[in-house]
Amino acid sequence: MSSQGTPKEAKGSKAKMGNNEKAEEVAQQGVVDKKRKRKEVFPFGNYRNYYGYRVGQDLEEDPRLKVLRKEWFEGKDCLDIGCNNGLLTICIAKKFCCHSILGVDIDFDRIEDANWNLRKILRKESASNRCSNASKLEVAESSNGLEPSVNASVDEETREISGDCSPCKERDLSRIVSFRKENFVLSWHPPLGKHYDTILCLSVTKWIHLNWGDDGVITLFTKIWRLLQPGGIFVLEPQPWRSYESNRLVSETAAINYRNIMFFPDHFQDLLLDKIGFRKVEDISSSLSGSKSGFSRPILAFQK
Ligand SMILES: C[S@@+](CC[C@H](N)C(=O)[O-])C[C@H]1O[C@@H](n2cnc3c(N)ncnc32)[C@H](O)[C@@H]1O
Repeated sequence: MSSQGTPKEAKGSKAKMGNNEKAEEVAQQGVVDKKRKRKEVFPFGNYRNYYGYRVGQDLEEDPRLKVLRKEWFEGKDCLDIGCNNGLLTICIAKKFCCHSILGVDIDFDRIEDANWNLRKILRKESASNRCSNASKLEVAESSNGLEPSVNASVDEETREISGDCSPCKERDLSRIVSFRKENFVLSWHPPLGKHYDTILCLSVTKWIHLNWGDDGVITLFTKIWRLLQPGGIFVLEPQPWRSYESNRLVSETAAINYRNIMFFPDHFQDLLLDKIGFRKVEDISSSLSGSKSGFSRPILAFQK
């Protein structure tokens, strides 16, 4: 027999409930609600609405876009490791006119967000194209003495998402940008012979370090080096060691890896040049300004 009884019995017993029992039930409900509201954990840095607090409403665009160089992206095949919800990936494609850019992220939900953002920006672009065609028509009509009739309203939310990345109009963005759910370190194997001109790994190393330790970081760097064309560029934004502390308890694995780390972020540059084989490095963060507090991190461009 079920110890929970039938719904009718439950109802009946509730009706007979005394004040103490009622208070107990309210308290229990409180515990359940509290549990439900428990803070979400993002063990891979797979935050939802990452750009909401990284870039914020007050900034026109992500400040990192100002220090990236067009020649690394224009007409190039690019890879963005840990693309989160894809907004920066899409902005890079638009602003710098990539030939292609693939964003990969370990979290399926973030990849869904990225595809959703891409579709939204594409819809906005096709609407604004229709508007500009209609405005051209209007100009032609008004020069013929006809009244203007088109209301060129632009969806505010989409404007915020796509920011001010001046678009490369020539090619359809849906042919340039794509997203895939992949664990870059453990399981992703791109098609044999596939190489990229530019690879980005921005604010991801801490999460790889905490989840897969020093071995994970070495695998990451080795894999990037192999995937780059000779002369290709690797843009790295490592989080500083001091920032690891506040995330070391996201999981038991992270806590263990944190204690065993031997290659600190300050050593990444030497590791990439002396052991992995990059030819040279340039610190491009000196001209970076406007980052929100907690996000002024070095940005290094390595050449293979
Ligand atoms: C803090 S966000 C940075 C987002 C973006 N790169 C930027 O700087 O604007 C880190 C992202 O890396 C992803 N990530 C962490 N480990 C990963 C892995 N092994 N493979 C692919 N993505 C990973 C997370 O899911 C998260 O979306």
